[in-house]
Amino acid sequence: MNILYTKEHIAKRTQELAKQIATDYKNQSLILVSILKGSFLFSADIIRALHEAGLTDVSIDFMQISSYGAKQISSKEPKIISDVTLPLFRKHILIIDDILDTGHTLHLVKNHLEQQNPASIKLLVVLDKPEKREIPLHADYVGFTIQGAPWVEGYGLDTNELGRGNPEIIDKS
Ligand code: IMP
Ligand code: MG
Repeated sequence: MNILYTKEHIAKRTQELAKQIATDYKNQSLILVSILKGSFLFSADIIRALHEAGLTDVSIDFMQISSYGAKQISSKEPKIISDVTLPLFRKHILIIDDILDTGHTLHLVKNHLEQQNPASIKLLVVLDKPEKREIPLHADYVGFTIQGAPWVEGYGLDTNELGRGNPEIIDKS
């Protein structure tokens, strides 16, 4: 088990992403849609970093998506457990997730939110594992791109519901 990204790494990258996002959405209002449970820590960090970067017209909402099946294998059929409550019509939406892996989860979320006809939808993830992709999906903002397909844990990411509180991201494979 080794550390892939330290909390200092993550904090620095979060600031960089926030500056980029604050520039891109300057003078616009933004709705963050945080995907539970994995993105709860990153969402809390990025919303504060956005505020500090000058982007203050920001709302946040949450969706919970089920993951089931064999351990450490992403579900090909994720289900919506809870939905957003804010109206998204003609709003700018930034979906936040912990990791873009096969792409099934964010494909479902994006299609679902598009039904409300928002002005735009972009994706922000802490981690990207491009080699695992099954659905062609591109994240607009990526914290770190992981080579290969290690199982990672920490900073919101779990192994059977444990390990989310580790402030560092570790390789558990
Ligand atoms: P998807 O395969 O892109 O649909 O990702 C679904 C979900 O699988 C992510 O939101 C994570 O919760 C979980 N996941 C994928 N890879 C990992 C990992 O390496 N560690 C912990 N969770 C993961
Ligand atoms: Mg998750």
